[in-house]
Amino acid sequence: MSTPRKITIFDTTLRDGEQSPGASMNLHEKLEIAQALVDLQVDVIEAGFPIASPGDFEAVQAIARKVTGATICGLARCNDQDIDRAGEAIHDAPDGRIHVFLATSAIHREFKLKMGKEEIIARAVAGVSRARKLCDNIEFSPEDAARTEPDFLCEVVEAAIAAGATTVNIPDTVGYATPAHMGGVIKDLVNRVPNIDRAVISVHCHDDLGMAVANSLAGVENGAGQIECTINGIGERAGNCSLEEVVMAIRTRADYYQASTNVVAARLLSTSRLVSSVTGLEVQRNKAIVGRNAFAHEAGIHQDGMLKERSTYEIMRPEDVGFQKTDLVLGKHSGRAALADRAKALGYHLEGEELQRVFEEFKKLADKKKEVYDSDIAAIADKQVNVFTDPWQLKSYEMKTSGDGIPAATVTLLRSTAENGEGELEERTDTYFGGDGPLDAIFRVIEKITEIRVVVRDYRVHSVSQGKDAQGESTIDVEFNGQLYRGRGVSTDTIEASTLAFLNAVNRVAMTEGRPPTVDFRDLV
Ligand code: KIV
Ligand code: ZN
Repeated sequence: MSTPRKITIFDTTLRDGEQSPGASMNLHEKLEIAQALVDLQVDVIEAGFPIASPGDFEAVQAIARKVTGATICGLARCNDQDIDRAGEAIHDAPDGRIHVFLATSAIHREFKLKMGKEEIIARAVAGVSRARKLCDNIEFSPEDAARTEPDFLCEVVEAAIAAGATTVNIPDTVGYATPAHMGGVIKDLVNRVPNIDRAVISVHCHDDLGMAVANSLAGVENGAGQIECTINGIGERAGNCSLEEVVMAIRTRADYYQASTNVVAARLLSTSRLVSSVTGLEVQRNKAIVGRNAFAHEAGIHQDGMLKERSTYEIMRPEDVGFQKTDLVLGKHSGRAALADRAKALGYHLEGEELQRVFEEFKKLADKKKEVYDSDIAAIADKQVNVFTDPWQLKSYEMKTSGDGIPAATVTLLRSTAENGEGELEERTDTYFGGDGPLDAIFRVIEKITEIRVVVRDYRVHSVSQGKDAQGESTIDVEFNGQLYRGRGVSTDTIEASTLAFLNAVNRVAMTEGRPPTVDFRDLV
């Protein structure tokens, strides 16, 4: 048997994944996820699109400076300003990459870029050459490659490699390809581009027709050496190729693909849960690999087979991807070290004051709840992660309904005045009478105090762990200035969870306000 080919896993959760509506993340959250991706042992982390906003730039730069163990990549359109900004953002990474992209399909050339073929080639060569002066590791993507004329795609790819691209990424930007089509595109490049051996071929597939994973695997079968993917498959529109699915397909069917990755499969579930709770994008129950039902056998005939021999109905073991027989781990007598250890296994690196806060919350919860599950710990850790970055904190709330049925709510918020939250805390209390019920009244007071008016677009509550004393997680989507912001809150009390979720969404608005995007990603040229 031949030695399996190592496939590079390029994770773009923090860039393409963040383009899921409402999934924007703050700096602290991005650093948490980047660290979890390193623990998962992905090879490349696309940390963001530095020119897009000052916040994006800061996040890529902070990840480049603090997160080691993976190549840190910044995205740039094919122009000097974008490329220089991406170069600056990844400058301090021990191992950095600039990812330059330019659309090549006839539709994009004619309607978006209004450029001819020669101009596209000249622009791609100029962009890659400029990036190459800033960094040795350059990826070039002909955007909408899957719909680009094959001859022209070969020409562009050859020119980009000649100009210094070390990876050529082939995106199916609109999720139009089928596996045979995508495989054919890669095969064509392998056979027809004379200098193709000087670069790694990558695939970047979107899931509009539900084929992103299959298309990526078809790329691998035909010579691609890198897959671009996201945790839980989140991303623009229907999302990207799901990392956990593609990695487990390569691992489970190594006999067929003759390939392997560096990913630590046992960390897939914790990373999936971390990304889900940070973005508020729930994982569907029946999602392959990490869904709650992915390993649940319901039919009697299956259960019978499983008891006799697991492999009758199981092609992977739940523990391979991080499921445990029971996730009941800690009780009220557990100490700080055990908590830090368990949190680390769940993807949270807690230390110092952050660990102390999580520990205090854990003790309070353990007093209230008989059993503390992994999901409870993850929920507490999540809640505390933002304490240092959210400008407004909830101190207390009270709600009443007067004799004539009019709701009234009083809320006290604390506002941190220093950027890192360590400065003076200013206290503000206000009351609101009216609204469509007590919860609405609470939301109105928060708006009054923060002077941020939003429109609630979606509101959900679900339990995050087992039992009748389970913690409830509330997720609220609000709209502000045409932008969607998602907030999350967790508590054993659903009113408190909802209040925290609303405040978290308002905090995201507050943090984005005054720092508008430099460019709109959806308005690329
Ligand atoms: O889908 C796409 O084409 C992209 C590029 C920026 C690679 O995300
Ligand atoms: Zn994409």
